[in-house]
Amino acid sequence: SKKSGPDLRSPICCILGHVDTGKTKLLDCIRRTNVQEGEAGGITQQIGATYFPTENIRERTRELKADATLKVPGLLVIDTPGHESFANLRSRGSSLCDIAIVVVDIMHGLEQQTIESLNLLKSRNTEFIVALNKVNGYNFTINENYTYFFCTKFSCKFLTCMCVYIFPIFKVDRLYGWKSCPNAPIAKTLKQQSNDVMNEFNMRLVQVSTVETLMNSSLYYLSGLNTALYYKNREMGETFNIVPTSAVSGEGIPDLLLLLVQWAQKTMEDKLTFVDEVQCTVLEVKVIEGLGTTIDVVLVNGVLHEGDQIVVCGMQGPIVTSIRALLTPHPMKELRVKVIL
Ligand code: GTP
Ligand code: MG
Ligand code: NA
Repeated sequence: SKKSGPDLRSPICCILGHVDTGKTKLLDCIRRTNVQEGEAGGITQQIGATYFPTENIRERTRELKADATLKVPGLLVIDTPGHESFANLRSRGSSLCDIAIVVVDIMHGLEQQTIESLNLLKSRNTEFIVALNKVNGYNFTINENYTYFFCTKFSCKFLTCMCVYIFPIFKVDRLYGWKSCPNAPIAKTLKQQSNDVMNEFNMRLVQVSTVETLMNSSLYYLSGLNTALYYKNREMGETFNIVPTSAVSGEGIPDLLLLLVQWAQKTMEDKLTFVDEVQCTVLEVKVIEGLGTTIDVVLVNGVLHEGDQIVVCGMQGPIVTSIRALLTPHPMKELRVKVIL
């Protein structure tokens, strides 16, 4: 290939945010898979990893016409659980990433584990992009606002039950009246929206963009976080970028992918320059029938071969062993998905 400049490795991106903001669903949308619906209770309980080759990113970002700017070979994305009991996994995920996506539900704003995640990133000085998710799509869960509206309007027990049990079926998630434009860049899709939708959108955007909201809404102290809609952001680096997305219709996905890659290439070229020295982190240890003890690892730099001698940390001290077999997950497939051998 006609590459110029240094040989870059794939950036490692961690996806963080409060429970049910749509982290796994966003990845499903990019992969065109359905991992989320297979999860127990729809809750992620493990770290997941997916490799996205640049050719797939190129395909998804075609409308943004930025082909030539993609220099990295791909993107490794680490999915983390948002449930409060998995703080250790969020910490592990964020400790091994170069860049992060923080997913925020547009109707909920900044929630507890989102702020916890922002604090983790801030303490490590990690760059991140905010995905303001669920701008559209249908969702068959209880719409708090809708129910509340009816309850206050008619203040009647019967109606309250009706609303809770029947209205969820009609729930329009998330911005009422949103006109969908599947897989479109966000600027294009926003141009199609009515004034009412845009007013609500802007109001929600302001709510997550201000430092005040952050500080008032939690016990955590997070100073100096400022965000702006990415294509209006005049001070990238000081002001963090927001990309509105829908994991259901794919709107904003092209923007999210392109911005991730471009921002990583722009701000961390040195860190992403490939080196031969092996740099490798263990994600998980598990026993697989027929294989014995296996470890899931993220290989950041260098090359591993079967037969290589390795040393890993064990509970009782260092374990010296050699690599018997190397299995690489398929691109665009989640590591957690069982590989049939
Ligand atoms: P945890 O991993 O458990 O923290 O959750 P998560 O952040 O991975 O969220 P998940 O992908 O499990 O999505 C939670 C719910 O929100 C599911 O019912 C999804 O279908 C729904 N959802 C996610 N993204 C969107 C979206 O963009 N629009 C709509 N309408 N629903 C969404
Ligand atoms: Mg999840
Ligand atoms: Na979930």
